[in-house]
Amino acid sequence: MSASDSMLPNTATYPVICIDGPSGAGKGTVAWRLAQDLGYQLLDSGALYRIVGLKAHQLGLLEQSDNLDEDALEALTKSLDIHFSPSESLGRVDIIVNDELIGNEVRNETVGGYASQVAVFPKVRQALLALQQDMALRSGLVADGRDMGTVVFPNANVKVFLTASAEARADRRVLQLQNSGQHADKAEILANIQARDVRDEKRSTAPSKAANDALMIDSSALSAEAVYTEIKRYCQDKGICF
Ligand code: DC
Repeated sequence: MSASDSMLPNTATYPVICIDGPSGAGKGTVAWRLAQDLGYQLLDSGALYRIVGLKAHQLGLLEQSDNLDEDALEALTKSLDIHFSPSESLGRVDIIVNDELIGNEVRNETVGGYASQVAVFPKVRQALLALQQDMALRSGLVADGRDMGTVVFPNANVKVFLTASAEARADRRVLQLQNSGQHADKAEILANIQARDVRDEKRSTAPSKAANDALMIDSSALSAEAVYTEIKRYCQDKGICF
């Protein structure tokens, strides 16, 4: 190593697997399972935007939905100390914000909408970037989101874009709510999914889209098991695992 080499920052990263796509396509389930299987960390990037969205709502920053204050949202984002930690419950990671464990409320549809609202702002996205990228400096990573393969980890070893029709995603959500004994209005759920898709895909900064080198999977007619098997095989082809 030359003297100048030793001055370089440590940029070595571990393998990164990106799973992008719209909500309800099954990213979370497959990402969690892959992370467990490979002994990697899990980055649930949607949770970051959900937390910012929820806190912004609590502070009244989302009241004028057509005229939000980007600087105030940036300041809020920078004030949050967010950590993920392995959870006791299957398929989850715990989220700790400013030393407080965040409850399930952050996962509901309403908070998903708040997340999508704050996620359009470049300053909010920038404020969350280092936290996400730093996770790849500590261990292998499975990253689930919208812009993992295009913006956050453009050099990732594996990129997958997992999608499904809005109809299929709404049906899954209805089933999920019914199975947990909650009321489910399919028309309302479908409308929310479609509105969120449009906002996430049309925003000018880091829109939800497949990287050019991503494997495309449409899960509309596939079981979670079939999706997992296909992605695992792709990781094997890419030399990430055996
Ligand atoms: O994946 P999710 O449903 O938890 O994401 C909630 C919202 O957060 C989503 O509608 C858009 C935003 N998001 C984003 O803009 N970029 C990401 N990498 C992840 C989520």
